[in-house]
Amino acid sequence: MTPSQPTQPAPVDMAEHPFLSGVFAPQRQEVDVTGLRVVGDLPADLVGSYLRNGPNPRFDPVGSYTYPIDGDGMIHQIDFDGSTVSYRNRFVRTPAVIAEEEVGRALWSGLFDPYFPNEDDLDGAENTGRDLPDIHVVRHGGRLLAMAEAARPYALDPSDLSTIGAESCDGAMLGGSTAHPKIDPATGEMLLFNYAFEAPYLTWSVVGPDGRCTRPPTAISGVDMPMMIHDMALTSRYVVIFVCPLKFDIIASFTTGASPLEWLPERGTRIALVPRDGSPVKWVDADPFWVWHFANAFDTENGEVAVDYVRWNEPTHLGFTAAPAVANITRTVLDPATGRISHTTLSDSMVEFPRIDDRALTRPHNAIACSGQLPGGLPGTDTLFVHDLAAGRQTHWDSGTVCVGEPIFMSGDAHGYWGTIGTDRATMTSAFYVFPTDDPASGPLCSVELPIRVPAGLHGAWVPGSPI
Ligand SMILES: [Fe+2]
Repeated sequence: MTPSQPTQPAPVDMAEHPFLSGVFAPQRQEVDVTGLRVVGDLPADLVGSYLRNGPNPRFDPVGSYTYPIDGDGMIHQIDFDGSTVSYRNRFVRTPAVIAEEEVGRALWSGLFDPYFPNEDDLDGAENTGRDLPDIHVVRHGGRLLAMAEAARPYALDPSDLSTIGAESCDGAMLGGSTAHPKIDPATGEMLLFNYAFEAPYLTWSVVGPDGRCTRPPTAISGVDMPMMIHDMALTSRYVVIFVCPLKFDIIASFTTGASPLEWLPERGTRIALVPRDGSPVKWVDADPFWVWHFANAFDTENGEVAVDYVRWNEPTHLGFTAAPAVANITRTVLDPATGRISHTTLSDSMVEFPRIDDRALTRPHNAIACSGQLPGGLPGTDTLFVHDLAAGRQTHWDSGTVCVGEPIFMSGDAHGYWGTIGTDRATMTSAFYVFPTDDPASGPLCSVELPIRVPAGLHGAWVPGSPI
């Protein structure tokens, strides 16, 4: 592809960009610190590693910056050994990041800008594209993966978080992968989908527990244009993919100059139930809505499929409408045999980043934790919400000026905990908070003071046992 814009665009005004300033401002330090200060009681049975990825541009961006797709990856690792806590962070060093480090500035502009670096600037990196493995981090099959959106992840060395290189998982991710593959705790398999800008527009594949590909990318029929799909759900029988009506055609946008994203509500949301045994896909039609993230899904006793997720009225923050955003935890129940579908709103709070105890993936879960908007709280301040499904009750932690990110479930030897990174807007310092699962509204059992500020967003994982 040849440059359609000969000169590099101007720098992005970071101070005015909501996702490049404040708690989202990028962090450029890389540190290794042991013996972090703990305020409160650190659970002695909490042993393992918390990992988190997130957009963190290596150099000040030029042209445009679209959150959460743009930005280089940075991995944050917090190790718990039962008595002490350590922290390490590293950039994901793609060839593009290495090329930019050579010259000490950004070479690539925003993902949607019609500009490509001059080859004169790319000493040894002329054939390099700009990969963006900045969304999620996954441990599976002996690999530690920094995940991208619809692109190959990057493998990392678990011993020091150094970057090994682009990874296909034995061919299962040859064309790329969602940033949100799902690992079946019953089988150890990792299942994933990938969307592409050319046919076949949607594929799924499987990686066995040993890291070998057991199903190469397999086309999912019934998708006739490139669609943005961020996450998936998994049951014992089905890969569940919600195809919301958001067309994403970056190839056409480069040739025509049109927006790569187009909201097409008249197409509705179409839900693919992809049988894991390889039999034909079943499609269920629904009214138009948007989904970033799923909590879980499971097969019900009467053969239906239940899916819990955060349902948005539209992808409002992408600029399609001025309508107020609505984002609630919702349960959708699908009948694969009849196509019947029903929706139940489980909570009317504005939330995102729903997570469960991942050991319950593909089976009924007890609770969903989210990051959500505090009723009456400071504008833009998010905190921890936990929805107890058995009790039908939602609680939240009054976090004051602390902005809380995605919660994850951390299994200890005896108990489980909710954990998340938060940044205090008053002091701009970050901490890791450990909450009891039985009463998260009572506040954290302890907070671990992190040595540097960790930018807000995006996804994390807990690897139990000895720190990786
Ligand atoms: Fe995500």
